[in-house]
Amino acid sequence: MTIEQVMVIGAGQMGAGIAQVCAVAGYSVFLHDTNQESLDRGYQRIEGNLKKQVDKGRLTLEQMEGALNKLIPTCRLDVAGEVDLVIEAIIENMVVKKELFKELERVVKPSTILASNTSSLPITEIAAVTDNPERVIGMHFMNPVPVMKLVEIIRGLATSDEVFSQVEEVTKRLGKVAVEVNDFPGFVSNRILMPMINEAIFTVYEGVATPRAVDEVMMLGMNHPMGPLTLADFIGLDTCLSIMETLHDGFGDDKYRPCPLLRKYVSAGWLGKKSGRGFYQYD
Ligand code: CAA
Ligand code: NAD
Repeated sequence: MTIEQVMVIGAGQMGAGIAQVCAVAGYSVFLHDTNQESLDRGYQRIEGNLKKQVDKGRLTLEQMEGALNKLIPTCRLDVAGEVDLVIEAIIENMVVKKELFKELERVVKPSTILASNTSSLPITEIAAVTDNPERVIGMHFMNPVPVMKLVEIIRGLATSDEVFSQVEEVTKRLGKVAVEVNDFPGFVSNRILMPMINEAIFTVYEGVATPRAVDEVMMLGMNHPMGPLTLADFIGLDTCLSIMETLHDGFGDDKYRPCPLLRKYVSAGWLGKKSGRGFYQYD
């Protein structure tokens, strides 16, 4: 099977980025969200990013128009019946993701690949709610998607070799590098990154330093492009908390316990850049 038609579900920061790179690579893309407002925001984000690329001379006007013509925003889920590959990028919540995968299986073709961009949730468990777990796979893009080279490809227990190699092919066509990992909580990326972010939050919680000081130490001392608290705000504090909970539940070790300050911020609705406030304030 050749993959030509893709559907990205969830038009947030990751879904919009994934839809953008797929359209630029020449795939026809449906971008789906449950509400029109998120869909509009996602589409505007893509348009804005592509315009910047044109201004910088990285993309011609024709290439931008070509990509935008390939992109169809829609609140309908049943268009999944027309696609070869679904990439799910909705909120990091197992119950909601399972519901979606159950529903998708009712509408997609038998050959359609179902990929999840989850940051940490077990692919095997998501796959288990479907009748064909061999077609379910993890396709974990990094944020910001148009810039970051890596896609972590996660095999569920039942993922077929055929599905794996097709997803590897798509990743190459997107100009990204696929790295294969097995299905354990947080995979490789967030098993290593998120405890560092959580520790940075503990450092603030315990009064060792201000958020700005923590970030400066890591940027100037370790050459990180962003400090861990700026990065946490950029990822989304709700997503960071979900990932820490998955690590804590999955491994049971206290070293993965989410910092109470992270919980407090999320319960206040301080979700980082996307909500206007996190460790820093955004206009
Ligand atoms: N969307 C699209 N493009 C963006 C962008 C965004 N949100 N932010 C920056 N860019 C682009 C800029 O347009 C610019 O593009 P050109 O090279 O074409 O000019 C390029 O990125 C560099 O941007 P800037 O010069 O403005 O800024 P910078 O040099 O500080 O780089 C950054 C910005 C690439 C985001 C850099 O700060 C960085 O690498 N930060 C760390 C990102 C990171 O760690 N990501 C992984 C997060 S963890 C994850 O994704 C997994 C998970 O499950 C949570
Ligand atoms: P986000 O909050 O920016 O966007 C989520 C979008 O999903 C929203 O637009 C919401 O309306 C939509 N949505 C929620 N339930 C839905 C449903 N049932 N059907 C359709 N749309 C639905 O979140 P995000 O940062 O884009 O994260 C999305 C996924 O990508 C999560 O699984 C997250 O863990 C993963 N991820 C995030 C990052 C990151 O840095 N933020 C990096 C890699 C992977």
